[in-house]
Amino acid sequence: MNVLDQKRTPLYDCIVKHAAGAPVSFHVPGHKYGEIIPDRAQKYFRELLKMDATELTGLDDLHSPEGPILEAQGLLKRLYGTEQSYFLVNGSTAGNLAMILATVKENDIVLVQRNSHKSIMNGIRMAKAHPVFLSPETQHGGTVAGGVALQTVEAALEKYPEAKAIILTYPNYYGMVNDLGAIVTTAHARKIPVLVDEAHGVHFTLGQPFPASAVSLGADCIVQSAHKTLPAMTMGAYLHITSKRISITAVESWLQTLQSSSPSYPIMASLDLARSYLGTYTQRDLEELIQRISKFRMEAADVKGLEVLPLDGGDPLKLTIKPNGGQSGYELQARLEEEGIYGELADPYHVLLVLPLLKKENRWRFAEAIEKIRAAATKLNPASKVQQLQPFQQKPFISMAIPYQEMEEMEKTAVALEEAEGEVCAEMVIPYPPGIPLLMPGIRIGREELAQLRLLLDNGAKIQGGSLLGKGLLTIFK
Ligand SMILES: Cc1ncc(COP(=O)(O)O)c(C=O)c1O
Repeated sequence: MNVLDQKRTPLYDCIVKHAAGAPVSFHVPGHKYGEIIPDRAQKYFRELLKMDATELTGLDDLHSPEGPILEAQGLLKRLYGTEQSYFLVNGSTAGNLAMILATVKENDIVLVQRNSHKSIMNGIRMAKAHPVFLSPETQHGGTVAGGVALQTVEAALEKYPEAKAIILTYPNYYGMVNDLGAIVTTAHARKIPVLVDEAHGVHFTLGQPFPASAVSLGADCIVQSAHKTLPAMTMGAYLHITSKRISITAVESWLQTLQSSSPSYPIMASLDLARSYLGTYTQRDLEELIQRISKFRMEAADVKGLEVLPLDGGDPLKLTIKPNGGQSGYELQARLEEEGIYGELADPYHVLLVLPLLKKENRWRFAEAIEKIRAAATKLNPASKVQQLQPFQQKPFISMAIPYQEMEEMEKTAVALEEAEGEVCAEMVIPYPPGIPLLMPGIRIGREELAQLRLLLDNGAKIQGGSLLGKGLLTIFK
């Protein structure tokens, strides 16, 4: 990888040059480079919308790139050392759907991590494949679902040697990693491709102390949300193909099907900038960053009333804090927000903070943040206590009780939560964030999931799906 090369931002430069020429727009979008927007939106939107062009002469086309977009994607490919790399404008969601639909056919058996994002589950459903869900190892006293153990994958492969793909998430939302390299070796020995949702690990290519990246560990197709930890706009993501086990033609065809035919130029330009930011990150930047975030981690650990979860080889950009008086993560989140501190997510036990991938010259309000976190901790209610539960069913792997093909024809009904154990769920129930389905159509409802759902509802967690949960009901198949 050539650092000088990585300084280049061909797509961003091209768009800036186009905007600087003060073009007269007789084309879409209708805001005409920001000239027609309400006065009150001028301050924030005006400059940005100058970049919001479309597939004009010289600006290339994401769906058939041959100019600056091709060049920008080429620089991404060189940075990661892949066979092929792509810009995504519809988030990792579109990437996960495309990598699955390009690899898995109807009735194929796929091994998939149980605590995967809904986009993975939706991809399998759209492919009408048969998922076998691999249970994750739990960490921190069973309060956080991590990665899948090698033994779980081996046991599943013994039982389902005909599996067509293994679909894993690495790292998890909290930055925790597992032995992905060993799983890849095992899968490849059986000629099975490994698809990895690395939405939270786009920066791992920087090397230690960050965990190894899924690309370097040999995964075949990898999807990364550039917008999560790089300075890219929301919805900006990357997809990488590293091996011949994945069909480039099929992935490209699905990306064209699933992504907008009017991809956002500001998002694509920000992906070009984010790649350059990463590609020009120096050892000095890294040393300075680690020093600053380690200090912040230590200061957070010293805050009375809080505990910081240990890194254990995970991503140093993730800082997970927990009230040590037994209060819930939601309560801590509420107190932090009162102080103006907005974390990434809360779960029943923790609040997750995503730290910035600073370069040496960037400043950050760490000192102010620590003061506010300290103030929030003093306001935790000493009397409130959250119940301790296991996050998921503990069987090493489970398959669907009803395949997708049959579900379409089946009738549904609603039952009270207390009566749902042992029934087959007919709807998605997704705590959001993190967006990992707790219940899905076709899954037999277990006691653990119901207890977890009750805990989430009692604590006011945000939930997508579960249309009748407000009335204490779940939709099941008759
Ligand atoms: C593990 C994981 N995969 C995929 C996604 C979807 O990413 P995006 O928001 O970029 O579509 C998320 C979003 O939170 C995620 O946490």
